[in-house]
Amino acid sequence: MATKSRGQWASNIGFILAAAGSAVGLGNIWKFPGKVGAGGGGAFMLVYFCIVFIMGFTVMLAEFAVGRHTRQNAVGAYRSIDRRWGFVGILGVLAGFIVLSYYSVVGGWVMKYVWVYLTGGNLGGDAGAFYQQFVSNPVEPLIWHVAFLAITVLIVIQGVSHGIERVSKILMPGLFVLLIVLMVRSVTLPNAKAGLEFLLKPDFSTLTPEILLTALGQAFFSLSLGMGVMCTYGSYLNRRENLVKNTLTICCLDTLVAFISAFAIIPPVFAANGSVGQGGSFAFTALPGVFDAMPAGKLFGALFYVLLFFAALTSGISILEGTVAYAVEELHMGRKKAAVIAAALMVAIGSLYSLSQGALPLKGFWYTLKTGWSFPPLGQSLELLTDNLLIPLGSLCSCIVVGWIWGSKHAVSEIRSTENGSPLYRFSMAPLWSALIRYVAPAAIIAIFLIGFSGYISF
Ligand code: PHE
Repeated sequence: MATKSRGQWASNIGFILAAAGSAVGLGNIWKFPGKVGAGGGGAFMLVYFCIVFIMGFTVMLAEFAVGRHTRQNAVGAYRSIDRRWGFVGILGVLAGFIVLSYYSVVGGWVMKYVWVYLTGGNLGGDAGAFYQQFVSNPVEPLIWHVAFLAITVLIVIQGVSHGIERVSKILMPGLFVLLIVLMVRSVTLPNAKAGLEFLLKPDFSTLTPEILLTALGQAFFSLSLGMGVMCTYGSYLNRRENLVKNTLTICCLDTLVAFISAFAIIPPVFAANGSVGQGGSFAFTALPGVFDAMPAGKLFGALFYVLLFFAALTSGISILEGTVAYAVEELHMGRKKAAVIAAALMVAIGSLYSLSQGALPLKGFWYTLKTGWSFPPLGQSLELLTDNLLIPLGSLCSCIVVGWIWGSKHAVSEIRSTENGSPLYRFSMAPLWSALIRYVAPAAIIAIFLIGFSGYISF
């Protein structure tokens, strides 16, 4: 029951910037290029593109519709559609909680790199060793982690339209410009040709079902789906705005940033190594060496990490907002208190994640049919828990709630901004979207689960 007066986006563009700011984050700039590298380049990007615009678009539109229709935090939203389905929101808040706990640790690493570059320091020539030494330090990463969370909390406390919207309005366009500058520099480097060919000449022989499913998981994470975050952001949106157009814009922006990042990161990695090597941590291990080898490398390095910091911050803000909206509306806490308590708990979980990077041999656990129980480092098992379990499960549940419980008819009427029986928008794709949300999206997500838990994807 949303009794309190709720915040609203001051403008539609503010909403787009905030939601795109949520979507664009470490997932696009840090993870995506690594996955493209591991997944075979251009062919992976093509598959990813199709998945975003078929599956991602479908689920995001559903989350926005639920949020805007119910005008509540994720838990209240799903509960008000059907009392028995409130757990979908709880699942989302829980997933967001764990994601932000470690996301803010990685955000802290980015701050450290910003600091090193801005203070003219150097990474000792070997960035891989620098990175390893830094993350294995028991104390320093924790300080940066707390700093990252503190900034996130300060912005969220200021509330929706004062804090999040204003910050996103400045950060998002800045991020875009910086990334394009970096990309132009990268693709004009002397040895950029091999990397460009890898990205532009799709080789479909590298595509396997596993890679297809990796792309699906990456797309959901990157679009901030399955955690009630987009549902929460949708709940602050005016009834008369065009949901379909907004969703399409956000999917396009997010994918554009991911693709620009791949073009900014992969050609220089090729230029330095002759191949794409092992993915994932390019942003911390391989890139500094690349910047060193560039004219004005320190400047480009500083720009890049500032950009990555902004991207991580706007995503972090969105996750914390999802949690805080829940605590304020369901548990009747003050905004400030809710944000501070949530952040304190995240420091606790995040510290364990951080320490498990090398300082302490902390282990978690995981299970697949193929390998049975295993005990990977705690950090890795936290990521597995969210990416491979909670996010797909949350997305699957939102497809079921929207497609079957609420009913795609009602959702379509919300999407069309129907007032007094007359729709404001046509949404001529409605029958297609209904089929996607009821059948195609749930089936594909169940496929991720089966592959993930059968153990045929290597993590
Ligand atoms: N989409 C963000 C990224 O790509 C991460 C995120 C996930 C943010 C889920 C909010 C919710 O980095």
